[in-house]
Amino acid sequence: MSDHEVPPLLGHVATAVSAAIDRARPDLAGADPVVRRSEHADFQSNAALALAKRAGTKPADLAAQLRTTLGGDRVGSVELSGPGFLNIKVPDHAVWEQVSARLASPRLGVTAPQDGVRTVVDYSAPNIAKEMHVGHLRTTIIGDSLARVLDFLGADVIRQNHLGDWGTQFGMLIQYLDEHPEATWHHDELTGNTSAVSALDELYKAARKEFDADPAFADRSRSRVVALQSGDPATIARWKEIVAESETSFRDIYDRLGVLITPEDSVGESFYDPMLAGTIDELVAAGIAVESDGALVIFSEEVTGPDGDPVPLMVRKRDGGYGYDTTDLATIRYRIRDLEAQRLLYVTDSRQALHFRLIFEAARRAGWLADAVDAEHVAYGTVLGPDGRPFKTRAGGTVRLMDLLDDAVARARAVVAERDPGRDAAELDRIAEDAGIGAVKYADLSTSRVKDYAFDVDRMVSFTGDTGVYLQYAHTRIRSILRKAGDAGDTVDPSIPLEPAERALALELDAYGTTLAEVADTLEPHRLCGYLYDLARDFTVFYEACHVLSAGEPVRGNRLALCRLTARTLEHGLGLLGIAAPERM
Ligand code: ARG
Repeated sequence: MSDHEVPPLLGHVATAVSAAIDRARPDLAGADPVVRRSEHADFQSNAALALAKRAGTKPADLAAQLRTTLGGDRVGSVELSGPGFLNIKVPDHAVWEQVSARLASPRLGVTAPQDGVRTVVDYSAPNIAKEMHVGHLRTTIIGDSLARVLDFLGADVIRQNHLGDWGTQFGMLIQYLDEHPEATWHHDELTGNTSAVSALDELYKAARKEFDADPAFADRSRSRVVALQSGDPATIARWKEIVAESETSFRDIYDRLGVLITPEDSVGESFYDPMLAGTIDELVAAGIAVESDGALVIFSEEVTGPDGDPVPLMVRKRDGGYGYDTTDLATIRYRIRDLEAQRLLYVTDSRQALHFRLIFEAARRAGWLADAVDAEHVAYGTVLGPDGRPFKTRAGGTVRLMDLLDDAVARARAVVAERDPGRDAAELDRIAEDAGIGAVKYADLSTSRVKDYAFDVDRMVSFTGDTGVYLQYAHTRIRSILRKAGDAGDTVDPSIPLEPAERALALELDAYGTTLAEVADTLEPHRLCGYLYDLARDFTVFYEACHVLSAGEPVRGNRLALCRLTARTLEHGLGLLGIAAPERM
């Protein structure tokens, strides 16, 4: 552990309870001390209740036994309560020492439990020549936040943008573009707020229409697919141009959202094309992929369809083509073998649950996905319209992401302007951008991942309630207190008794790393949102109960330390959500 790491009091208490179990009842050595934060004390251990049966005693008796040997410099008073709870109150000096140590650490004392775990995070992954939709908003925001948290906790994170950049549809589009040289779709020839990808999406629809209506065009398109697959230079050049133009549009969204994914992280489906044959050979040789009706499939040994038959994964279609399934088989093999990933995360909507279940099963059977490697589908629910129905434009089309973001920023601007009409336009723009984008991200991240949620911009940009704007504002208020205080040092006097509101705030601050570790394990960013919201509220209670600027020293110094640590924790936590924490709003 580096000097910058400060284990939480919760950990010290748990260690002390474990030691007490070992001493009092060697027969129970190694049992979980079951310690958590409590309203009745600082921490509570439920070990006696959990272990009573095994110990052959009443929980209250076991608790009393544990209590006699429970101690240590960070364990203050211990009381028995209820049927066998141990209520533990830590000494005041220990609480202040945590605050001081965290302030002294550039990483707020947070330990790095993911140390070195090579983790592939597959996220965003829009499809070339198709408009990014609200579903891609979620994967982009959630994936980015998880990558940030894991990285901060020491994981060796590899971001992968699995772009849908390969497939027979490109043959048709390329053919159409060649036959319609008048069509404009390059971003530098477009005007207004149309993007290259919107233009390509429209052209693709037109191509599809022509394909269905004109058999001759359909034939020419099929030849184009062959040309693309066999690497015909002119066709490949065209395809590359389409990919590049689409990526430019995606980049605009990424920049606007402030996500970390870079062009180097783009490793699309085409990348795996040369690996498909080898992957398939291996699956066939192992007897895992089998012929069925002219196609090559992998029948699941775990999942059956409604008819009771095993569900197949399509390795090679009857026409000899490869699809999404095949690519993901090659992808998982590559990520484990070549990237040497120990943890694989796939952030896509929950409708792809079966797909990933089958891919993981096949990879396990093939021996790629061994016990030491962990693969998880990080599934999320659907974004609904403000009315709770499927999200569509009034005309029934898909909602463009850029429009959605523009709308959120415009509403945030109105809300901010109303609060403080005296602001100049440039500052207002900057604040509105941070607030509007932050609002969208926070609304997404704060709902439990698997749930659907309604995209309600008015609620999102509110200054009250569990919103990104509320948290950003809470942060600016503390910054303003700190500005007024001047540059008071970060010295903490640990001999000062704690007020209840100070204690609650300090213990919450001490739990930051514990919360992050939970996010890393459960892959649920909403836990971090909930933590930051609680922290902001604990701060409000503290600020109402305790004078800060007008207090005398050394109390003032200690309280300013609490303010500073709260501001830094809020800013840092928002940062891990990918949300800006401006100094002023
Ligand atoms: N492009 C896909 C889509 O838009 C998502 C790809 C997710 N990643 C993967 N390895 N399958 O739905």
